[in-house]
Amino acid sequence: MTRAFPQALHIVAGWDQAADLASDLVCATVRRKPGAVLGFATGRTATEIFPALIRKARLGRADFTQVRCFNLDEYIGLPPSHPNAYSNEMQRGLYDPMGLNPAQVFLFDGMASNPGHEAERCERALAAAGGIDLQLAGLGENGHIGFNEPGSPGDSRTRVVSLSATSRTANRRYFPAPGAVPARAITMGIGTILDARQIVMVALGAHKAAAVARMFNDPVGPATPATFLRGHGNVTIVLDHLAASALPESVLAAGQEPGA
Ligand code: F6R
Repeated sequence: MTRAFPQALHIVAGWDQAADLASDLVCATVRRKPGAVLGFATGRTATEIFPALIRKARLGRADFTQVRCFNLDEYIGLPPSHPNAYSNEMQRGLYDPMGLNPAQVFLFDGMASNPGHEAERCERALAAAGGIDLQLAGLGENGHIGFNEPGSPGDSRTRVVSLSATSRTANRRYFPAPGAVPARAITMGIGTILDARQIVMVALGAHKAAAVARMFNDPVGPATPATFLRGHGNVTIVLDHLAASALPESVLAAGQEPGA
């Protein structure tokens, strides 16, 4: 069935099924286009998907030797050696196990002396790479995508942002102390994300249910940044039953099980 939004909706049993499906979508893109440009979120949802992707790469489901990868965002003030730096998490969790070389990977430098210039470097690199073929995104409990917090304009580009209290609280569990969560980040903008030719958004767990419902129901606008996905045209959403639990029946009825 062709849908207005999202163009595909998969409601799966749990994390393993979501990882299987999302990694299949990435592999399909790379099979279709060996030099594909892939955008990756970090965070719990994305890092649960990476082992499935690594497994499939090792099984030869797709050849990743020519892909290029971009990180979606990065904390400002954490060196790449910091365990919570997204560049570090991505290197350890995905890029190293996949055997990608540094030239294949764009990482933000969270310690750049001029973070604004670092953001512009990302936009230039994206343009030089020909844009993102598939962007894997997660969803913040406040409706953010990347670190585009509520208030972010739909045409925003990669830039320096302040993290909201909600996001800092949500990410506190990954840091040794509450005060250790950085206050600022560099993120691809909403306009930058919407330039991706395909977006795969994965949201799992009951704590995402309200944000998922708002992504579908709120007026499209900066108050709920994920609503901007509704104007994209090639969005696949992968949810588990808990994350989908606040969606109206009319939306759920069109949800597909994997392979459907
Ligand atoms: C991280 C990012 C964020 C996360 C979102 C969900 O790179 O872009 O938008 O995707 O905050 O985070 P998790 O998956 O940890 O719930």
